[in-house]
Amino acid sequence: MNGFVIAASILSADFTRLGQEIAVCESAGADWIHVDVMDGHFVPNITMGPFIVEACKRVTKLPLDVHLMIEKPEQYLEAFAKAGASGLTVHVETCPQLDQTLLEIKSLGCRAGVVLNPETPVRQIESVLALADLVLVLSVHPGFSGGKFIPESAAKVADLRRKLDALGSSAWLEVDGGINAETLPKMKEAGATAFVAASAIFKHPQGILAGVQALRAQLKNKNHGAAAP
Ligand code: DX5
Ligand code: ZN
Repeated sequence: MNGFVIAASILSADFTRLGQEIAVCESAGADWIHVDVMDGHFVPNITMGPFIVEACKRVTKLPLDVHLMIEKPEQYLEAFAKAGASGLTVHVETCPQLDQTLLEIKSLGCRAGVVLNPETPVRQIESVLALADLVLVLSVHPGFSGGKFIPESAAKVADLRRKLDALGSSAWLEVDGGINAETLPKMKEAGATAFVAASAIFKHPQGILAGVQALRAQLKNKNHGAAAP
């Protein structure tokens, strides 16, 4: 781990070949597997539950980064932790007692993450920033992979970077939605440290291996946004 991680979101995987596709991600150098859990209420789509997390756990050693786009996430934390989640990320919009929910995630032995929808201001999570192990900025409207990247998300990442640094927090600052070889450098420049990608990996025209490698290549480039030497 080099301080930056690529999280492959299986939302765009071929589910008839999920095990093989996760294995390719792993051998290509993906750091985490991102699992998008949707309930058809909080977002207009229904996807996966603990059963899929448990299946992923059996085929990979990579940490499972579980993004809960569901109402009442506190009712399902234990099931996802038992299924093998390494991190559980809950939406501020769904958690009336966000601090307690984050503490419960930690007590289950998981990395506690909080995520903001694109229209939710940073101030809504300010009081829990010191508690969070991961802060996720959604750079698309949640529900589907392949959405349009929202450029204003970069300012939100920069704001969170300043706030996390001021707190002395080493929390991951993750971005999710429309991340590809063009948008990743902008988000890295803004201060993000973890990059989720579904389509850029699983729908890459040259395949999954090339998709992961194209993102990794951007992490190695140290000149993002810098003036030409
Ligand atoms: C959006 C999900 C994302 C999604 C990203 O609701 O949280 O993780 O899979 O897909 P891409 O990378 O295709 O925008
Ligand atoms: Zn996600």
